Amino acid sequence: MQPDEGLFTRQLPGDRYREQTDPVLQLEQINVNFDGFQALTNLSLQIGVGELRCVIGPNGAGKTTLMDVITGKTRPQSGRAIYDQSVDLMTLSPIAIARRGIGRKFQKPTVFEALTVAENLELAMHGDKSVWASLRAKLSGEQQDKIDETLQLLRLEGDRARRAGLLSHGQKQFLEIGMLLVQEPHLLLLDEPAAGMTDAETEYTAELFRTLSGRHSLMVVEHDMGFVETIADRVTVLHQGQVLAEGSLREVQANEQVIEVYLGR
Ligand SMILES: Nc1ncnc2c1ncn2[C@@H]1O[C@H](COP(=O)(O)OP(=O)(O)OP(=O)(O)O)[C@@H](O)[C@H]1O
Ligand SMILES: [Mg+2]
Repeated sequence: MQPDEGLFTRQLPGDRYREQTDPVLQLEQINVNFDGFQALTNLSLQIGVGELRCVIGPNGAGKTTLMDVITGKTRPQSGRAIYDQSVDLMTLSPIAIARRGIGRKFQKPTVFEALTVAENLELAMHGDKSVWASLRAKLSGEQQDKIDETLQLLRLEGDRARRAGLLSHGQKQFLEIGMLLVQEPHLLLLDEPAAGMTDAETEYTAELFRTLSGRHSLMVVEHDMGFVETIADRVTVLHQGQVLAEGSLREVQANEQVIEVYLGR
């Protein structure tokens, strides 16, 4: 099942243009097998510095598993994963991978509900200190600025002293993105970030991701095609653990196999 190569190299009018950049992530021939079930098969994928890549595909295609591999949560049976052109992710623990600048947002928001919005950001900023030590540690002026800037970016300035548990679902999603941003990641992995958001929140998330790309590299898994259309530089379609197609959204939308297994339904 090889997609038509020619179709994916042509630049169509109206496609978002971006200069080719060095790869921030190179996955080569990744295989993941769970007790006989092949979740990823010979998966190769490359993401450029500052690129915003969307990964789409039917339920069970392996999208979350792909993020598990990149973050060290799941170890593949074979394959290579190179970050920043020289770091072999296969040799690093999940904590070491996060410290190297790969941040991840899970499908369900996980904020500290009993703490305020600002405290959540402080905690994330201090990373591996204990909760108590983090909240007592005095922030430098620079750190304070970073928190203010992040609150503003996420439109949470007015809620900084509110308990995170009182935020709307969408605001919790924003806060969790903020908790990643204060750690200044190079590569951000976001699994269905717009799930459960209102239309207005989804629209702002799209705007936010466009703002973040360039400065950060992003890999976004999302089912909402309108959202994908607004944000993606390139789109990778996964199906049964394999890359079915890759290119601009227009290109993959025109692909017969993609229509058959994903878009047509
Ligand atoms: N730890 C595991 N043990 C066994 N099977 C697993 C495990 N994790 C994932 N799988 C299986 O691997 C396949 C891919 O799952 P994955 O969660 O990566 O899909 P997905 O593309 O993220 O789907 P969705 O769109 O529903 O989130 C599924 O069939 C799933 O049941
Ligand atoms: Mg998933």
